[in-house]
Amino acid sequence: MQILETIAGRSSAKKFGDHGLSIETIEGLLRCAARAPDHGLLSPWRFIVLLDEGRKVFADALESALRRRDPAVDAQTVERERSKAFRSPALIVVAAVITPHPKVPEIEQIAAVGAAVENLIIAAHGQGLATMWKTGGAAYDPTVKQALGLALQDHIVGFVHVGVPTEMKPVRSVDLDAVTRWVR
Ligand SMILES: Cc1cc2nc3c(=O)[nH]c(=O)nc-3n(C[C@H](O)[C@H](O)[C@H](O)COP(=O)(O)O)c2cc1C
Repeated sequence: MQILETIAGRSSAKKFGDHGLSIETIEGLLRCAARAPDHGLLSPWRFIVLLDEGRKVFADALESALRRRDPAVDAQTVERERSKAFRSPALIVVAAVITPHPKVPEIEQIAAVGAAVENLIIAAHGQGLATMWKTGGAAYDPTVKQALGLALQDHIVGFVHVGVPTEMKPVRSVDLDAVTRWVR
């Protein structure tokens, strides 16, 4: 079955080219993301798509967060931090917005958003694109959440870079025995 080879052959991109993605392509990926399993059909995922100048919003937020953490930070470190926003032509921030629900605890809603990210990643890979799923301190920083229009209680599950890769990570080998116990 070809889908097994597609999934097993995925790896993250290390670097992306400048080649932009069409809105239709990105919408296709987001439709796949939003088809993830969803207990209670709460649609806990939110997608913030940063393209072109839109990535500057994220760069500014990264810089503000860094300056708040370290007011004496040097210009080179600031530039390095800002450059994270421009690693790829498209940056999709995937967040979890939790709806209080008697049968669907928060962890299940976050897990659903993780599944949405994976759907997005596999969909991109299936089309010859590549992704890089990042988080880091910025994902938990209130300045960054605010700049992206999120509430403090929302969770940033990933900054997903998407584009045409120019350099890929090698495909990891899997040691199933280390993580599997069979009971029969
Ligand atoms: C929730 C989550 C957050 C991650 N955050 C980072 C990150 O901030 N920086 C990073 O280098 N890799 C991060 N990764 C891991 C990479 O996306 C990647 O999966 C890992 O380097 C393994 O490479 P591969 O995807 O090619 O197998 C994260 C993965 C997950 C699931």
